[in-house]
Amino acid sequence: MNKRFYVTTPIYYVNDIPHIGHAYTTIAADILARYHRLIGYDVFFLTGTDEHGQKVEKAAAEKGRSPKEHADMLVENFKAIWNRLNITNDAFIRTTDINHVKTVQGILQMLWDKGEIEKRSYAGWYCMPDERFWTEKDLVDGNCPDCGRAVEHIREENYFFIMSKYQQSLISHIEKNPTFILPETRRNEVLGFLKNNVLGDLCISRPKQRLAWGIPIPFDDSFVTYVWFDALVNYFSATRYLAPGAEMARRGDFWWPAQHHIVGKDILTTHAVYWSAMLMALNFPLPDNIFAHGWWTIEGRKMSKSIGNVVDPNAIADRYGVDAFRYFLFRDVPFGHDGDFSEDALVHRINTDLANDLGNLLSRFITMTEKYFSGSIEKTVPYGRLDSAFTRQCVASFTAAHRRDAWSRLQFHSILDHIWDMVRAANNHIAQTEPWKLAKHEPARLKEVMFDLWNTLRLTALSLYPFIPLTAEKIWKQLGLKSLAEEAGNSGAGNSDLPQIFDIEWTPVYVLQTSKGAQLFPRIEKEKKMNRETDATIEAPGLEKEETNLISLKDFARAELRIGKVVSAERVKKSEKLLCLQVDTGTMRQIVAGIGKTYAPENLIGRKIVVVTNLQPAKLMGIESQGMLLAATGADGVPVILMPEKDVEAGARIK
Ligand code: MSP
Repeated sequence: MNKRFYVTTPIYYVNDIPHIGHAYTTIAADILARYHRLIGYDVFFLTGTDEHGQKVEKAAAEKGRSPKEHADMLVENFKAIWNRLNITNDAFIRTTDINHVKTVQGILQMLWDKGEIEKRSYAGWYCMPDERFWTEKDLVDGNCPDCGRAVEHIREENYFFIMSKYQQSLISHIEKNPTFILPETRRNEVLGFLKNNVLGDLCISRPKQRLAWGIPIPFDDSFVTYVWFDALVNYFSATRYLAPGAEMARRGDFWWPAQHHIVGKDILTTHAVYWSAMLMALNFPLPDNIFAHGWWTIEGRKMSKSIGNVVDPNAIADRYGVDAFRYFLFRDVPFGHDGDFSEDALVHRINTDLANDLGNLLSRFITMTEKYFSGSIEKTVPYGRLDSAFTRQCVASFTAAHRRDAWSRLQFHSILDHIWDMVRAANNHIAQTEPWKLAKHEPARLKEVMFDLWNTLRLTALSLYPFIPLTAEKIWKQLGLKSLAEEAGNSGAGNSDLPQIFDIEWTPVYVLQTSKGAQLFPRIEKEKKMNRETDATIEAPGLEKEETNLISLKDFARAELRIGKVVSAERVKKSEKLLCLQVDTGTMRQIVAGIGKTYAPENLIGRKIVVVTNLQPAKLMGIESQGMLLAATGADGVPVILMPEKDVEAGARIK
């Protein structure tokens, strides 16, 4: 029987429109799920929606729908975005599922029967939007400490889960299990909280007259269950009716406990304290790990509807592609830290890492195999041979990228670092061995170099698959292989505890035929404009410089360059770098250029510049640019606009 791996995301409030925060948690879980499938685990990856509570009830009433009808409509937003982002969840739980409702009621009944729940009269400050009580001392300036909104004083009878009794057990569980809460800073926070405060009991009911949209408390019909109690149980209830292996379940063999609950830092306490105490009271095992990730700000500001800067993953995927988005989220910021999202940073990553490092590596490799061997790749000496610094480095990086410990601690950032070490090593290897020279004098050595590059690209694709699955499959196919995920599934146990396909020496057949595909990641114009000169130099190492970067005079003559006069200039809203210029090049045209950090718009008016006038128009931040101005980039990275040495009339052709 295979090893099992169960990973969850929070269940998202169905009322929300999916944003980058939701996407972040879910992609993280997808990376783990894909990785574990690849290395031969049976995986259960669960996500879903949280559908009860006041907010849904209120929003539905405003639209004149029943809460369930409302949830039925909204849940589709989440299903659609997971589909779009290539999320491979095995199940989707909704807290309105009848089986979930029954499980919650069963659990409440068990806890009631065991004396873990009590009815008490309670007075406290209630935050309506957050649906939770606060004590007097929790309040900040008399308002909710979480959302800052007004609170109401409420006295009522309610049911309480006697959570206080688990304070000590929680402390010792966290202390005995150093990876139960990760990252470590969060673990210390929870421990500090538990050690320095008296843990209260948890109000787990709401009177029906105040809130009807919830799961009825089985032993008292006049109450419904508090949404968080209902929601947390999803992780367990899904194992009873949504997990794979119905046969297994009939034998009483379930998927509980989970290996990882991935959550945002804002909901760590509910998971690490409430949920753990609930499980202790039920005598159920605790999950192996709760991982709290950080939050994204957007260009330095908190993301919020009122600011209007909520990042829609659909729009990003449309503009830049799903894999680029998935890659960026885990490459730029260590998982567990807060991060700042900006399109400029995303474009920069696409252009440097994906288009330049990875995309160029593959296309240069394929071009060379086609040119020198008509696309056929032959296994030569064993890849890992010790006399090659290059293969030694790749083996070390590959091994580091698959360290159990790095994966069980969700160190995606350092895993990607190791993968990139391989990519960079391969690019250097091309520069150092200069295959175009070997082709002339050392054909046997050329074969070895090409095979080593092939294998490094194979190991890179394998390692990248969990993060950017579509790209990894594309690389795999161009290398002459069939289907990465399928081949991994069919591959037996290898030398380490990973499947054979992970063995350094694995090759499916002796001779393979590579096949050129489309460019993996076309460069994004936006940055090219801002940083053209640097880009050009990055783009032309090795082979291209030697052989393919030369163009004929005829090719060059196809570019139409003219003198332009800047008639007006202004900053593009929400961008530090972009300026929008109206330029007279014989005819008026609009040009968007990434020079705003160095040039003030007012200083450009009346200046003469050099413009490429026959470029296809492109949109930068939604604004059409009908051409490109020329600028050099100095060693300090600052763009310097090219201007004619003497005055020339606007529209003059440059030849
Ligand atoms: N329904 C509860 C979870 C119940 S789990 C038993 C909930 N839902 S939510 O829709 O608000 O989910 C929010 C998830 O998105 C949390 O993990 C939260 O941390 C994450 N994010 C919301 N905004 C975020 C950012 N700006 N950045 C990163 N993640 C953020 O809470």
